[in-house]
Amino acid sequence: MNGLLEIAPALAVAENVADSCSLNNYLAQPDHTMDARIAAAREKLGTDVVLLGHHYQRDEVIRFADFTGDSYKLSKVAAETNAKYMLFCGVHFMAETADVLGRAWQQVILPDLNAGCSMADMAEIGQVEDCWDALERAGLSDDLIPLTYMNSAAAIKAFCGERGGLVCTSSNARGAFEWAFARAEKILFLPDQHLGRNTASAMGIPLSEMVVWDPYQINGGLSPDRLKAAKVILWKGHCSVHQRFLPEHVDRVRREELGMQVIVHPECRWEVCQKADDVGSTEHIIQAIERAPEGSSFAVGTEIHLVNRLAKRFAPLGKRVITLDDSGCLCTTMYRISPQHLAWALENLVEGRVVNRIKVDEDVKQWARVALDRMLEIKI
Ligand code: 13P
Ligand code: SF4
Repeated sequence: MNGLLEIAPALAVAENVADSCSLNNYLAQPDHTMDARIAAAREKLGTDVVLLGHHYQRDEVIRFADFTGDSYKLSKVAAETNAKYMLFCGVHFMAETADVLGRAWQQVILPDLNAGCSMADMAEIGQVEDCWDALERAGLSDDLIPLTYMNSAAAIKAFCGERGGLVCTSSNARGAFEWAFARAEKILFLPDQHLGRNTASAMGIPLSEMVVWDPYQINGGLSPDRLKAAKVILWKGHCSVHQRFLPEHVDRVRREELGMQVIVHPECRWEVCQKADDVGSTEHIIQAIERAPEGSSFAVGTEIHLVNRLAKRFAPLGKRVITLDDSGCLCTTMYRISPQHLAWALENLVEGRVVNRIKVDEDVKQWARVALDRMLEIKI
């Protein structure tokens, strides 16, 4: 028989499989039809795959996670798991971190590559290098530690690692600041000015000793004298979700909700954190509500999916949870991970295809790992 004729049906079958696994076929289906497919694919993959879910994920997605957590907890899971595939239901910088912390034979998948973080995008490596050059020229870099929030590109983590610095998350920022101040006079904090300001302020550093470096201005928009006098140089970045919480929202709760506690994420503005009863990472917020006695009530300043989940979970236990801002702050990039994307990534894995792999360049990986390892050594 003609060889071509033998190959043709095999090609047709392969094309059919590929076609049925195309993302558009999934996106055309309603959410609930994905549940059984996700469960079946997980069953087939067994311990080969681990699903990591950040607390901001939608209910329809996070219910399938093997591990849920804040960015710190999930990075520890990534460093310890033996699964061949880590499927990250979160955003790009989290998946990159998992790839840096994972071993060479592990592969990380982000179900939708559009799940980024607008804050992480506010610091580009070229801008950070330019900033460092300017600080060097000003004679400041010898006594300066660069410290980056987890919410940053792997290249920026590597930049910090290579210059004696480290990474932090919202749950260990204080420890990271102490680590840095034990080694240098000054910190350059990237890219979230609010987390940096809130952390330094909680350590007793006055606002007058902090400056904000604007990457779109010459010399960051700062005079050499102001830079010299500063203890903390904050990058001009922020989270557009958390920045929407305002001091007047706290004032309204104080006026209208007697006895209600206000608990916010440290990505909120300094003025909001100052007025709150408690400030902490997503994991910290959950634990604080878990520990509170029946009858407690909380206005929470963080992403709306987590707040809604907490409200539902704790209502039967006699605890009331509301959002601090009535209009509800949604992280649209976290929201991009849908049950359809999850089913698509898993069913492709069952067919032996890795889609949307997140792979950090080896040279970047090496120094990013140094910066992350320094973070993991800090006690929280
Ligand atoms: P957590 O580490 O507190 O979960 O915060 C991550 C994040 O992106 C908050 O916006
Ligand atoms: Fe980034 Fe803000 Fe979304 Fe967190 S909530 S992932 S900081 S955009």
